[in-house]
Amino acid sequence: TPDHDGAVEGDGVRRRDFINIAAVSAAGVGGLSVLYPLINQMNPSADVLALASIEVDVSAIQSGQAIKTIWRKQPVFIRNLTPAEQQAANAVPLSELRDPQTLAERTEEGRRNWLITLGVCTHLGCVPLGAAEGENKGEYGGYFCPCHGSHYDTAARIRKGPAPLNLEVPEYTFTSDTIVQIG
Ligand code: FES
Repeated sequence: TPDHDGAVEGDGVRRRDFINIAAVSAAGVGGLSVLYPLINQMNPSADVLALASIEVDVSAIQSGQAIKTIWRKQPVFIRNLTPAEQQAANAVPLSELRDPQTLAERTEEGRRNWLITLGVCTHLGCVPLGAAEGENKGEYGGYFCPCHGSHYDTAARIRKGPAPLNLEVPEYTFTSDTIVQIG
């Protein structure tokens, strides 16, 4: 009968409304969680920060010391090599190196003592030790990655362990004798 059909249709509409509301809510919540990282990436201040270069005053880093700073959300090591550490790096035949590079190729002319590298192990990205006073510098006197035991030498070149490459040297310039701009 028409009455009966009408009642069924009415129930059907109410059910559909409920299903639609539920579907919209789920899409709304899901949509927000998908959109949030996109919105965050478009945030101009975060963008500028990610691309910015930094200036570091190195005047307090004594010969033989190293510090860790942060640039583009990554650790960066700034090391003031002693003459003996430079000599040790220069004494290694390139044929013994997994990723052959001289200290001269990894430092600036006239400032061979300043070794600047990312503090990111080239194996799986842990932060190696050796930038702070008393930390384990590894068997080759540079850096030691505690995650799987990679040893880097005084030019931050990989010498032992699973890491395939030397610690990366980022783009940098000394704008004076004491200020280095990274990036
Ligand atoms: Fe450094 Fe594996 S991450 S040795």
